[in-house]
Amino acid sequence: MVDLRSDTVTRPTAAMRQAMAEAEVGDDVFGEDPTVRRLEERVAELLGKEAGLFVPSGVMGNQIALRVHTRPGDEVVVAERSHLYHYEAGAPAALWGVQLRPVGDASGVLTAADVAGVVQGANDWEARTRLVCVENTVNKAGGVAVPSAAVAPVAEAARAHGLALHLDGARLWNAAVALGETPAGLAAPFDTVTVCLSKGLGAPVGSVLAGSAETIRHARRARKLLGGGMRQSGVLAAAALVALDDFERDGHALVRADHARARRLADAVEQAGLALVRPPDTNIVLFETPEPAAEAVAGLEAAGVRTVPFGPHAVRATLHRDVDDAGLDRAVAALSERYQDRAHVANKSDVTPGVSPT
Ligand SMILES: Cc1ncc(COP(=O)(O)O)c(C=O)c1O
Repeated sequence: MVDLRSDTVTRPTAAMRQAMAEAEVGDDVFGEDPTVRRLEERVAELLGKEAGLFVPSGVMGNQIALRVHTRPGDEVVVAERSHLYHYEAGAPAALWGVQLRPVGDASGVLTAADVAGVVQGANDWEARTRLVCVENTVNKAGGVAVPSAAVAPVAEAARAHGLALHLDGARLWNAAVALGETPAGLAAPFDTVTVCLSKGLGAPVGSVLAGSAETIRHARRARKLLGGGMRQSGVLAAAALVALDDFERDGHALVRADHARARRLADAVEQAGLALVRPPDTNIVLFETPEPAAEAVAGLEAAGVRTVPFGPHAVRATLHRDVDDAGLDRAVAALSERYQDRAHVANKSDVTPGVSPT
């Protein structure tokens, strides 16, 4: 079986397992786990921020960011395609009493006008806009990599209105490699950044929230409030440190390979007569299916390829480090076999909220 459901399905490598077994650990709630500290410092440095906080998941990183930037009754501007809006279980309302203001188009890339057009709070009857969240890459739009040149005017508009900025960089590593920019460069305009080690980098568990030392001090308390204070979590951080070593090796060869395979898969999708939602920037391939997505996914699974529905007629396939060229070949063969006799392009349906968040 070739599992293209998400880049979260990777298993720890032998080197990760060894590092986990040998990790030097302590009680991280007391701030005494040296391996967690090493990870937090390394990620903060890679992102050009003062401090980092190891958290169990990307959702927790994003939600802690909302906590530190907002008060109940505030409003947060997000892209309509954002993970925060679609896939975080209503947490902003449930946990913090804040509402999201979804804006923007199907690319998931915010513009300055999107932000400036909705800022409010001067009148008593308006929610107060406090925060703008940008996602990079944009998962729901098909792994779109957002260059810093596109972020700069958004950040400028946000600052002009006194708003804070958070980056959901679950796949910021992929964005940086695709764009030829650094993670720190892409993170520069933001007060806080969430990055995941458990997606494009292939670590088994964990994300880091980075920001100023003061913000991360508040974030630490919010992590505890959410039950995210872990004890000997150095066993997890150790695997994440190996994943970072792997990421940085040979000019980011592993992530580059995932992106190249995504382009090959996208070519195969088109050769099978299907339409891409857009050509892949990174490791995610989003395509339209003539039949209902659930049917397409079931058919591909029967042929040995696991994907996820991403809308009524849209399917997502994600490349990751556990898929090699042989796996990709099997996926390509399954696609062309399924669609060779039905090579008609799907109705151009828009991608509506799907069922898979990761
Ligand atoms: C863009 C984005 N942000 C945040 C998350 C949440 O990460 P996690 O599944 O680790 O909570 C995901 C993945 O699910 C994601 O794709």
